[in-house]
Amino acid sequence: MKIILVGYGKMGRLIEKRAVEKGHEIAAVIDPGVENKLSGQGARVFKSVDAFEKEEKERGTPAECIAIDFSHPASVERNIRDFAERRIPLVVGTTGWYDKLEELSGLVKSKHSSLLWASNFSLGVNIFYKIASYCAAIFDNYGEYDVAGYEIHHKQKADSPSGTAKTIGGIMLKNMKRKNKLVWDKLDRPPEADEIHFASLRSGAEPGVHGLIFDSAVDSIEIKHTARNREGLVYGAILAAEWLEKTTRSGKYGVFTMEDVLG
Ligand SMILES: NC(=O)c1ccc[n+]([C@@H]2O[C@H](COP(=O)([O-])OP(=O)(O)OC[C@H]3O[C@@H](n4cnc5c(N)ncnc54)[C@H](O)[C@@H]3O)[C@@H](O)[C@H]2O)c1
Repeated sequence: MKIILVGYGKMGRLIEKRAVEKGHEIAAVIDPGVENKLSGQGARVFKSVDAFEKEEKERGTPAECIAIDFSHPASVERNIRDFAERRIPLVVGTTGWYDKLEELSGLVKSKHSSLLWASNFSLGVNIFYKIASYCAAIFDNYGEYDVAGYEIHHKQKADSPSGTAKTIGGIMLKNMKRKNKLVWDKLDRPPEADEIHFASLRSGAEPGVHGLIFDSAVDSIEIKHTARNREGLVYGAILAAEWLEKTTRSGKYGVFTMEDVLG
């Protein structure tokens, strides 16, 4: 598989390393913030998709690639449009753009291109989603238990709450009839009975903690996922790219998530 890496920060660099170890080729790196002409594994570095495309045309090599985007929330919309226009399948790990998901999904489909997005590519978190929906359905029957959520991430993280927290919040609302609203901001009042309070904490180098607390007057049950490092995310992102490449090659296009990858 030939990969275009969009965003060459913490995730991009690790994906490059692991993808090359798995025998994939890095066709190019696109990151306006990188000054080097070559990446750590010797791939060409470009400031934009246009610059990459121009050089590809001059070299006369058609770009049969798959792109993986771990960049910045502010650049995702442009990146999705750019790759959909060129019908290059795109895996998006960048979070903080989901208010545009519907519109951009429509665009990708109208161009007969492919997009696979996930707020979290780790297998453990995707298992956590299933456990969370199971717990929500059980606790929905026991009104004496309230539910709250929290997430903790490193202090460089650009968006808040995390995309994973939003997904978990959505799972709670879907599975708890007595809860109708997520509150992400600080509360200067007691929560309403139908609200779920979800808190975000930013500190140090934490790669990611997500938890849910089911709390009653007599006891408390907590479920929590702690990422030890970024390896699980990187593994999942490469797995998603491999799946999307195979799916696209079989003639299937559209918008997919990690649920499709994990069956
Ligand atoms: N879905 C997941 O599983 C998952 C996992 C980890 C991180 N993330 C998300 O991925 C994103 C990146 O994370 P990170 O830890 O690698 O961040 P990072 O800050 O280390 O790296 C981001 C890189 O993107 C580059 N960039 C900025 N604008 C760009 C553009 N227009 N085109 C290409 N590159 C551009 C920056 O120069 C930087 O090198 C964040 O949104 C983060 O929340 C998602």
